[in-house]
Parts: sequence; structure tokens; C-alpha cells
Amino acid sequence: MIFLQETFNLEKKVKKTQKQKYTKSKIKILELIKKKSFGFIQDLHQKDFSDIYQFSEKLQKFENVLFLGTGGSSLGGKTLVSLMDNIFINATRPRVFFVENIDSSSIHGLLQNVDLKNSACVVTSKSGETIETIAQFFFVLNEFKKKKISIKKRFFIITEDKQSTLKEIQESENLDFYPHPIDIGGRYSVFSIVGLIPSKTIGFDIKRFCNGGKSFLKEIENENNFDYYFTPISNLIDLKKKGVNMSIVMPYHDSLNNLSFWYRQLWAESIGKKGKGITPVNALGTVDQHSQLQLYLDGPKDKFFTFIEKARDKSVTKLDCHYSKSKTFQDLHQKSLEELLNAEMNATIKTISNKKIPIRRITLESYNEKYIGSLMMFFFIETIFSCFLLEVNPFDQPAVEEGKKLTKRFLKYNE
Ligand code: PA5
Repeated sequence: MIFLQETFNLEKKVKKTQKQKYTKSKIKILELIKKKSFGFIQDLHQKDFSDIYQFSEKLQKFENVLFLGTGGSSLGGKTLVSLMDNIFINATRPRVFFVENIDSSSIHGLLQNVDLKNSACVVTSKSGETIETIAQFFFVLNEFKKKKISIKKRFFIITEDKQSTLKEIQESENLDFYPHPIDIGGRYSVFSIVGLIPSKTIGFDIKRFCNGGKSFLKEIENENNFDYYFTPISNLIDLKKKGVNMSIVMPYHDSLNNLSFWYRQLWAESIGKKGKGITPVNALGTVDQHSQLQLYLDGPKDKFFTFIEKARDKSVTKLDCHYSKSKTFQDLHQKSLEELLNAEMNATIKTISNKKIPIRRITLESYNEKYIGSLMMFFFIETIFSCFLLEVNPFDQPAVEEGKKLTKRFLKYNE
């Protein structure tokens, strides 16, 4: 198995009541995978990386690269970049920034603190119409104009090759254009140019990452393997009948924190439809043991948990805590932070499990490109498979359209 998935308080076999739906959905998804019917799978198999390499070489000439875009147009790339970064310092070269929001004070602060002459800006929007992204563009453009810095050869546009507001900007300003694949939705775009360009720019091995995704698809061609990976989600979804309607995703490593934000969007936008769905919540171990754990242990029994960990690290840094004979010093003395982290995760799993709450524990050998590629592909397939089980469309998000229309109306009438 590419990674291990251990479950607690969950049946090991597909529940009888789910069997028919499970088998139907499994046949359907395996058929679609085989035919490469999903855009992200087709793209993965016909990928020629040369465009991405050339584009990233252009970006690598800059000190800073600002990625404008939101939702699926930023979360995948951001997740991959954070695997190579350090949460305390912007350690990548070039430094990359994901301008996801439209908070003028933070964007202004960023623009004041980077040398714009030495900065590139990549604007990504599949539709080319997302109002936040277009607004980010004009805000940043304004700053370049004020400083009389040309945006030509500094601004790059990723959008679908069709008429749109962003395409019009690209054509009017004569900016470099990179097509967003038509048949890949934002939240499924991490294996496309959208996720690969930010990560390749800072040295992430994108071929290895894509191979990780492909290996996972290969592995689940075998039906037993498919069942190993996807029986748990089928049984977890079935627990909805018993009021389990929240999914807590809790990696135990700083560099995976963004992965749970990425997963949250993938899952929520795909599955939350027609009054159905399970609410994803992200948490980070060990930090959130001191924030959410009390509720998880003693609050409503409406959750299941996914812990994500790396097979044990061999850290050499042992703590030297010999100040006194106090108990805490003794417990920690000659232990590493990794040992403490592991002990805490095991203890958390044990206490939650003792409460008969369903858990799964995913263990990766490493957080390298290959394993992360496999894990992200697993989450794609798991999400789509779950949507099939619940009979909702994994690829649209009709409910958010109303808010978008209203925003435009409020803007127009200054309501
Ligand atoms: O996953 C999705 O489809 C959405 O979250 C989009 O990524 C998000 O709304 C941004 O859309 P666009 O890339 O068209 O600007």
C-alpha cells in the first residue's frame, strides 16, 4: 500500500446496507478512471512539463512572485509550496505570496514591503470572472503604476482560452498568457499548471508529485486495494444516519496545515448539496489539542476524525532538561520533539477512540512529492466517490452563484 489507513471504531467491511450503493459507485468510478474521463486524470497522463518549466524559469528570475487568485486557483499551489517552506520565515527563493483575499491593508502592507521592480505577478482564474481576483489585479496594478513600473514581462495570466474579463485584460495589456485547462475545475487543479507553477518555481519536484498521483490511480485498479482505501469513507458516510455529520481532519505537522485547508475546500464545495453533506473542519496537532479537543472528547458525538502523520522521524535533537527532579523535566529529558509529538498524537487517538468515536489514521512514509501526490489523488477520488454515494454532482457549486450575483447588485447600488 502506498500509505496506511488504520481505522478505529469502524466496521472493516462495507456495511450491508451500503453494499449496493458502494458496488455501483465503485464500478462507475473505476470505469471513469480507466477511460480517463475526469479532466484532471486526462491532463495528468498527457502532461508535457516543458511549458511549466519554461514559465517557472521566467518566474525564478524575480525575487518575489505574487500569486493572485482565490479558492481552487490558490489552495493547491499554496499547499505544495508550504511543504517546501518554513512557517516562520518566508524561506523559499523566490519568495512567493498568495494574495487570496481582498483585504486592502494586508495587500497594501505586502506591496510596501517587496521590491516591485523585482516582483512578478501571476493572476489565476479559470473563469476569468471572479470579482475578488479581478479586484486584486487592479489593486496591485495601481501600485505598479504609481511607482511607474511596467507590468509587461512581470504579469502573467492563467485563465481559460475564451472571452472573459481577465482575458480582455491580458489581451489589452499584452501580457503572457497560459491556458487554464477547460475541463479541470478549480478545486481539482492541483496537478495542472495552477498547482504546479507556484510549486515548480520554488523547486518542488512536480514530475515526482504527478507520478505519485498516477501511482495511486494504478494501485486502485486492483479492487482489493480500492476497497482498502475507500471502505472507511463509505462506512463513515453511513454513520450520518446516526447523526455523525462532521469530519475533522487533523495532520500532525506544520507543513501539512495548508493541506487540510485545501481538503476542506475540495470536500465542502463538492459534497455540500441538496441538503446533503458532511461538514469538514480542519485542526492541527498538537496545537489544537489545546483548543478544540475538549469539545471533541466531551461534546456532541457527531464527528469522525482523520489523523495524518508521517512514519516516525529519527530526530537527533534530544532535549536536555536536567534543571531539577520535577516530573515534567524527567519526562522530557533526553526525548526529542518528534517523540513528544508522536506520544501526544497516540494519546489523542487513544482518548478519542476510548469514547467510541470513529477515527482513521493515515500514515505516510514521508511528506515528499511522491507521497503527497498519492495522498492528494486519494482525496480527489475519495471526494468524487463519496459524491457518487450521496448522489450529488462533485464538480459544480450552484449555491454560491446567488451570492456572486447579489455582490454585483450591492456594488452597483452601493447597498
Ligand atoms: O473550486 C472551485 O471551482 C472554486 O473554488 C473556484 O476555484 C473559485 O471560485 C475561483 O474561481 P476561478 O478560478 O474561476 O477564479
